[in-house]
Amino acid sequence: MQPASEANQRIARISAHLHPPNLQMEESAGLRRANCRAKGAAPGFKVAILGAAGGIGQPLALLMKINPLVSVLHLYDVVNTPGVTADISHMDTGAVVRGFLGQPQLEEALVGMDLVIIPAGVPRKPGMTRDDLFKINAGIVRTLCEGIAKSCPKAIVNLISNPVNSTVPIAAEVFKKAGTYDPKRLLGVTTLDVVRANTFVAEVLGLDPREVDVPVVGGHAGVTILPLLSQVKPPCSFTPPEIDYLTSRIQNGGTEVVEVYKFQFVMDLDVKLAVLPIYHIPSVSSFLHFQVVK
Ligand SMILES: NC(=O)c1ccc[n+]([C@@H]2O[C@H](COP(=O)([O-])OP(=O)(O)OC[C@H]3O[C@@H](n4cnc5c(N)ncnc54)[C@H](O)[C@@H]3O)[C@@H](O)[C@H]2O)c1
Repeated sequence: MQPASEANQRIARISAHLHPPNLQMEESAGLRRANCRAKGAAPGFKVAILGAAGGIGQPLALLMKINPLVSVLHLYDVVNTPGVTADISHMDTGAVVRGFLGQPQLEEALVGMDLVIIPAGVPRKPGMTRDDLFKINAGIVRTLCEGIAKSCPKAIVNLISNPVNSTVPIAAEVFKKAGTYDPKRLLGVTTLDVVRANTFVAEVLGLDPREVDVPVVGGHAGVTILPLLSQVKPPCSFTPPEIDYLTSRIQNGGTEVVEVYKFQFVMDLDVKLAVLPIYHIPSVSSFLHFQVVK
């Protein structure tokens, strides 16, 4: 890179940090596409997290803020985004952080985004299946996806909100209706099942989980989670009781965590680990590490 353009870029980046348009969530403020680029944030991905103030959203925001590929990070939620935005924006990494609060600011949060990650919605409580979340989360996902179709139709969309098996098809229908559907750009996040499978299989085999790779296909709920135990790397074999045990434990890993936490609704520390390799690998292909749930 030429020294002059490097200097210009540095000055522009500092300017973007000194004058973040809406850190205080003024009524009329927010990102406009030209605004963002004119402020000269470093080249890179523009990422929005919808549901950024939640249990998944906050650590995700942190991971995106430390990802060197991300130049602009938009945090949207219906509550608490001013605090989360201020907090995350103090981290000494390149991405410029902006917060957006409530439905009226959804469009501004989404304009110009390359990647939209959606952990918005309610999580499971003990005794609930992921399907029990459908009624509430389906409506939330539909509204958010309508915003995406309007404001950033070319963005890659990662759906975390459960039941992922159903929220992905809902998103697909919204995009089809809007004429913006691209199956390559709509992904359900199920990496957590792979993380759990690697851990449990490593335990049975007496190996380091980092050396184990278990392909998991299908969906992200109970029996739809299909670990391919015949394809495990390093190559190995299991006894029938081991297969029964592993299949059941992998399929019910989420329920195991929900039940253990009981009435403390701080959960899914493992999902934070699960998203770490996805969102922190400094490579565009990291965005493709999700399974598409059809
Ligand atoms: N795919 C996976 O592997 C995986 C793993 C864990 C959790 N989840 C799912 O992710 C979702 C979030 O879990 P959590 O633990 O972060 O829950 P949480 O309750 O801690 O956070 C949810 C956030 O969504 C926000 N929200 C609610 N309605 C909204 C709307 N209309 N627009 C924007 N934001 C809205 C809430 O204000 C809250 O901040 C749940 O549905 C949970 O089941 C998926």
